[in-house]
Amino acid sequence: MTFSGPFQIGDRVQLTGPKSRLNTITLAAGKEFHTHKGVLRHDDLIGLPDGSVVANSVGIRYLALRPLLSDFVMSMPRGAAIVYPKDAAQIIGKADIFPGARVVEAGVGSGALSLWLLRTIGPTGSLTSFERRAEFADVARGNVVGFLGEEPENWDVVVGDLVESLPSAVEPGSVDRIVLDMLAPWECIDVAADALTPGGVVLCYVATVTQLSRVAEAIRDSERFTDPESTETLVRGWHVEGLAVRPDHRMVGHTGFLITARRLAPDAVLPQPPRRLSKTDYDDSDVEIWTPGAVGERTTSAKNLRRRVREARAGAAASLARGGDAADEGIDDDIDPADGPQDGTGDDAPSRTAGEDDDQ
Ligand SMILES: C[S@@+](CC[C@H](N)C(=O)[O-])C[C@H]1O[C@@H](n2cnc3c(N)ncnc32)[C@H](O)[C@@H]1O
Repeated sequence: MTFSGPFQIGDRVQLTGPKSRLNTITLAAGKEFHTHKGVLRHDDLIGLPDGSVVANSVGIRYLALRPLLSDFVMSMPRGAAIVYPKDAAQIIGKADIFPGARVVEAGVGSGALSLWLLRTIGPTGSLTSFERRAEFADVARGNVVGFLGEEPENWDVVVGDLVESLPSAVEPGSVDRIVLDMLAPWECIDVAADALTPGGVVLCYVATVTQLSRVAEAIRDSERFTDPESTETLVRGWHVEGLAVRPDHRMVGHTGFLITARRLAPDAVLPQPPRRLSKTDYDDSDVEIWTPGAVGERTTSAKNLRRRVREARAGAAASLARGGDAADEGIDDDIDPADGPQDGTGDDAPSRTAGEDDDQ
């Protein structure tokens, strides 16, 4: 699979046809893309520059582009809810992920954030991704191989709970950056502090204010980090056409919050301890109101999950076959951009809002 230059066998190509409908194909010699309005031969695309326009057998024209990573993650099979591109971009910046960094993430979910992290750390970095559900780890592996065409050598997926698995998986003080995207990151703050190098960054991505509050207090209580900083990122598209220049009518209103803190040196004490509020402790009744059950967390059925695993594996097999005869249409999409973000569940609503997550 190639990421620039003329189209080659094995490349994933996104076709935009009539009414802006999207279809993604994986180029294979002799193969054809069929719709009820004609046939487009893959051979007619192979060798053309990215961004070409080609006509099918009845003259319908398609714009052919390699999908960007943001296109791929929005249409790939999902086990758990993904990190959206707008948040992935902020995570890379706020967590200061750099080429060569030693990064830990949990949970791996569908592998969306793993792809962004792998791209940023490059071949000299390392990413260790922890996921306690083996089926989700399978979906993530399928998606990463589906996009990259191979399983990166610098990527380890550990199936297990981060709190139990991290201490034996990495040397204490050896990790540059830790990114936590899970329901209860506060449970992981101590192991994260043990694993991080002094000055290292922990970043948590949480969906609700109650999670944000609880993880902030856990970071403060540990006394091993700087005072945490919290942000939310809203991205509003604009309609720009002639004099009709205005914000889009629709946008993704809420996905989650980011909270970051730096690891202090061993035995260092902050010169100015964080200001404590009167009510910073939680008791059982506080916690009970936002347990997964209480916030109406949606779970994925075993049948649905098996289908996602099959789709992700088919995508990975197609990438690995690099233009062989393997069935490659497993993760082809048929997306109308007007439908908004695709979460693979048939539900058009963004899936990172509180109470709507597939699984955290
Ligand atoms: C919202 S998903 C992560 C999505 C992922 N970042 C992506 O972009 O595709 C949360 C995942 O965390 C996993 N998880 C929750 N707590 C965990 C823990 N303590 N250790 C490992 N994985 C955990 C869940 O099984 C779930 O797959």
